Amino acid sequence: MAQRKNFMGALVTAAVLISLVTGCGAKATETTATPKAPETSKSTEAPPAKPASDKVVVGFSQIGAESGWRGAETQSIQDTAKADSTIELKFSDAQQKQENQIKAIRSFIAQKVDVIAMAPVVETGWEAVLKEAKDAKIPVILVDRGIDKKNEDLYTSFIGSDFILEGQNAAKAMAEHLGDKGNIIELEGTVGASAAIDRKKGFDDEMKNHPNIKIVKSQSGDFTRATGKQVMEAILKSPEGKDIQGVYAHNDDMALGAIQAIEEAGKKPGSDIKIVSVDGIKEAFEAIKAGKLNTVVECNPLLGPQLFQAAKDLKAGKQLPKWIKSNEEVFSGQKAIDALPNRKY
Ligand code: AHR
Repeated sequence: MAQRKNFMGALVTAAVLISLVTGCGAKATETTATPKAPETSKSTEAPPAKPASDKVVVGFSQIGAESGWRGAETQSIQDTAKADSTIELKFSDAQQKQENQIKAIRSFIAQKVDVIAMAPVVETGWEAVLKEAKDAKIPVILVDRGIDKKNEDLYTSFIGSDFILEGQNAAKAMAEHLGDKGNIIELEGTVGASAAIDRKKGFDDEMKNHPNIKIVKSQSGDFTRATGKQVMEAILKSPEGKDIQGVYAHNDDMALGAIQAIEEAGKKPGSDIKIVSVDGIKEAFEAIKAGKLNTVVECNPLLGPQLFQAAKDLKAGKQLPKWIKSNEEVFSGQKAIDALPNRKY
């Protein structure tokens, strides 16, 4: 009886401790993806003390669900974790808010995860929370987007694309479609995001070689289709929008929104106005096939396998390269049409 009382007491204490730890987590949705262990016995004996987890526990703070690309990245990360019994993923969706990402990271620190992974919504404002992770000796992997250079010592590795190169490739494609002259509109990504800053920089750098192409208006569409469409509608009605030959969108979703706006304004996207975008989601390839989009610069969202390999390597004490770079291609015309059936996202 005394033994049973002790056991019940231990259960209550454990429940209180668990609720305290999880209670300080972020308000944004947080889920854990580990398959439940099958029940093997109905014994009332207290289970043997659990050894320190031999799984690699990864807390991932995702930005949100703003684009088709983002959905593909989330799926890659969740599917990879689900298929690997040596991984436990704690997933948190920040709904595009940096404050939610900071809360999630603090929650991962409190839960003593092995590795913190994050896709930072913007480049700045991470110093304090990443110092906390460093003090707790939890390595941080940046996935997809970067943070400002002065804080490079606060993360272990960055897995993702060369956004500057993507911008340069987009500019080269635009110059080719326009025969090296014309007025263009730039639809930028989320203000302050590395993907937006660097795609703009790469594009502007390359445009110095094409002085007869003029960016007449550059505005953020926040990486979403709805805002991309709204911004494009407003520009088409403005004086700058009366004489444009090209649109450079920092992602496919904004390009697809702009295509709708251009069609509704009675013009032909893909011919009257050339469109170049970045990402490479299936819908963008379909738009190329339909003649409405001219070039897609690929940006790979399928980062799950690389992320968890990196997390395992870190737990095994291995050194990681500072940048694990994605290899990407540029797709236009027939090359895009041929690639469509095999697109994975
Ligand atoms: O950081 C990558 C960018 O973020 C993708 O290009 C875009 O679609 C996403 O929202």
